[in-house]
Amino acid sequence: MSFARIVGTGSYLPEKVVTNSDLEATLDTSDEWIRDRTGIERRHVAAKGQGSSDMAVEAAKRAIEAAGLTANEIDLIVVATTTPDKIFPSTACIVQRKLGIAECAAYDIQAVCSGFIYALDAADRYIRTDGGKTVLVVGTETMSRIVNWNDRGTAVLFGDGAGAVVLQASERAGLIATHMHADGSMEELLHVPQGISLGFDATCSDGAFIEMNGNAVFKRAVGVLGAAARETLDGHGIDRKDLDWLIPHQANMRIIKAAAKKLGLPMERVVVTVDEHANTSAASIPLALDIAVRDGRIKSGELVLLEAFGAGFTWGTALFRY
Ligand code: ACO
Repeated sequence: MSFARIVGTGSYLPEKVVTNSDLEATLDTSDEWIRDRTGIERRHVAAKGQGSSDMAVEAAKRAIEAAGLTANEIDLIVVATTTPDKIFPSTACIVQRKLGIAECAAYDIQAVCSGFIYALDAADRYIRTDGGKTVLVVGTETMSRIVNWNDRGTAVLFGDGAGAVVLQASERAGLIATHMHADGSMEELLHVPQGISLGFDATCSDGAFIEMNGNAVFKRAVGVLGAAARETLDGHGIDRKDLDWLIPHQANMRIIKAAAKKLGLPMERVVVTVDEHANTSAASIPLALDIAVRDGRIKSGELVLLEAFGAGFTWGTALFRY
């Protein structure tokens, strides 16, 4: 056994769609401003009572089916989420129960928008050191619960959804490299300033909401994504020409275009789905991956680079042959 390989993908978007025009009714914004600055056209919003675990289960079922497996063949579930159902137990354990899996290991990873890359890294190491195992990795988010719908600076940017992959050991090339980074020195540029250990203060009686310095996040994201892509490709002797697809975190179109430009990749080789679902944090990369696999863009054997950036700050890449 040499590689952890993705053998199935799946995704799920909630039924309810909120368009930019819908937001015009409640916010001082416009469809034109949102499209122009972000490329976002609509976002999906989870129904009342629909949790991150519910969306994760739908995406997971599709990934398990695509892999030709049954849920009981899963040995480990890793769920990347910023918006868990409960403080505890982990969303991964809730997903395990809802999938009807009698026995397996399960845990959550919290690295915000980079969570899926961090989770893939964990799955890769698990499979390579404990061969023969099957791992379900899910990114799932109900960002709508931590968005202040009265703040036009953030409300237009986020959405809900889930994406999943199943990985197994393989002699055929799969995951080639993962790289993870974090820099906690700028936490206040992008955060939800409430929590368990410090307490929820009186100012958040309606909820705990995302606060962001958009310009600073934009500059930092573009800078580190360029460096991270170079680190991965140069470190493994891969020419940019040999890369078939780039799947960046679907935060907004301007970050995606800037990241592609830094890599010298034409936009035809970049998977873009942010128009359809906005920024779904840890779910955005597996959502985009599944959409591009199912519509036939990504084919067996092609070389794909994933790159993510998120609060923390955290960022990272994963390079694999599909
Ligand atoms: N509709 C209309 N006007 C708006 C809106 C809105 N939704 N939001 C802000 N504005 C206004 C501002 O108030 C400002 O008005 P002013 O000039 O009168 O003061 C004007 O538009 C320009 O504001 P900026 O913040 O400078 O707009 P900018 O061009 O930087 O675009 C954006 C904002 C889209 C958030 C950009 O900074 C960005 O892409 N940042 C990256 C942040 C991001 O994607 N974060 C997601 C989480 S992190 C991650 O996932 C990577």
